[in-house]
Amino acid sequence: MAIIPIFITIRRIWLRSRRILKVSKIDERVLVLGASSGIGRSIAHLYAERGARVCVVGRREDKVEEVAEECRIRGTLSSGYGPTRVLGISGDFADVDDMVRLRTMLETEWDGVDTVIVAAGVSALQPLMALAGVEANANGTKFTPPKATKEGIQKAVDITALATRVNYVGPLVSAITFIPLLTATSASPSILLISSLAALIPAPTRTLYASTKAASLVLYQALSIEHPAINFTFFAPYTVEGDFRASAVDAGPVREADPNKSGLKREDVALRCIEAVDTYEKTVFMPSWNRIGHLLYWIWPSLVEWRARKKYNFGA
Ligand SMILES: NC(=O)c1ccc[n+]([C@@H]2O[C@H](COP(=O)([O-])OP(=O)(O)OC[C@H]3O[C@@H](n4cnc5c(N)ncnc54)[C@H](OP(=O)(O)O)[C@@H]3O)[C@@H](O)[C@H]2O)c1
Repeated sequence: MAIIPIFITIRRIWLRSRRILKVSKIDERVLVLGASSGIGRSIAHLYAERGARVCVVGRREDKVEEVAEECRIRGTLSSGYGPTRVLGISGDFADVDDMVRLRTMLETEWDGVDTVIVAAGVSALQPLMALAGVEANANGTKFTPPKATKEGIQKAVDITALATRVNYVGPLVSAITFIPLLTATSASPSILLISSLAALIPAPTRTLYASTKAASLVLYQALSIEHPAINFTFFAPYTVEGDFRASAVDAGPVREADPNKSGLKREDVALRCIEAVDTYEKTVFMPSWNRIGHLLYWIWPSLVEWRARKKYNFGA
């Protein structure tokens, strides 16, 4: 048993050096989709600090430029590489025109790309019936009003389309746009998808969020089999600090503990993402013991459901 951790460490060092021998830290061309804030921003900072070329993408032009400038400063200070190595491009990763324009830019400026980080996503916070204007009582036996109206159902469908566009269509458009470019232009093409623990362990009030994140996770898992030349990493973090909940497609109360007190630190998540890409890890749970929670759901679902109800302070 004692040799297992030694074996894992040696394997990790060997895997890390394998990618770096193919794509050195300073030659790496990294595209971060969803880098104008949060985890994507921290990932962009860290890649810039180690001398990589970084392309920062998000819809808010001012935020994109702000993060690109932060990367230029960090890159220049820590690795001495010039500010020209950072690109800031505003765009929507679910928009075909924006992604094709971005691809042309990467072909022109960098002759391709080595690493694509798909960090963009939106949250959704309400139970599904609440989207349609229907509340369930504490034990889930009665509804007020007793049934959803036509307008209520339509509202739920419209909100679902918003979540699906960002959490599923965005990763899909990015995959179709960048997989051939990555494969043709990189000695070690890699894609990291930031999914969520919620995509693997169901939780109340996360019906829409979790199901749309699960859809893109399975999409990328299947793509990983269809494109064996690319190293795919699926990253499933627990709650992370920051303002993610402010982007919710269904404004409403946040029922869990304050993520800024109990969540993972963005920098730690970003570091772990980069380590996973460097070492060709396939699926990363953070914290790692959540892998057991995922397995436990299939063995003892009622325990995991009870824990999920508690975490989200959910009565019905
Ligand atoms: N925070 C958590 O507790 C948590 C937990 C598990 C997993 N995650 C996952 O981690 C990822 C990052 O979350 P975060 O906490 O860093 O949230 P965040 O601070 O809200 O960052 C989300 C990023 O995605 C970008 N984005 C959203 N829609 C986009 C679109 N259509 N096109 C391009 N960019 C878009 C946003 O930029 P613009 O608004 O400028 O477009 C922003 O840069 C998400 O995929 C999320 O599902 C988060």
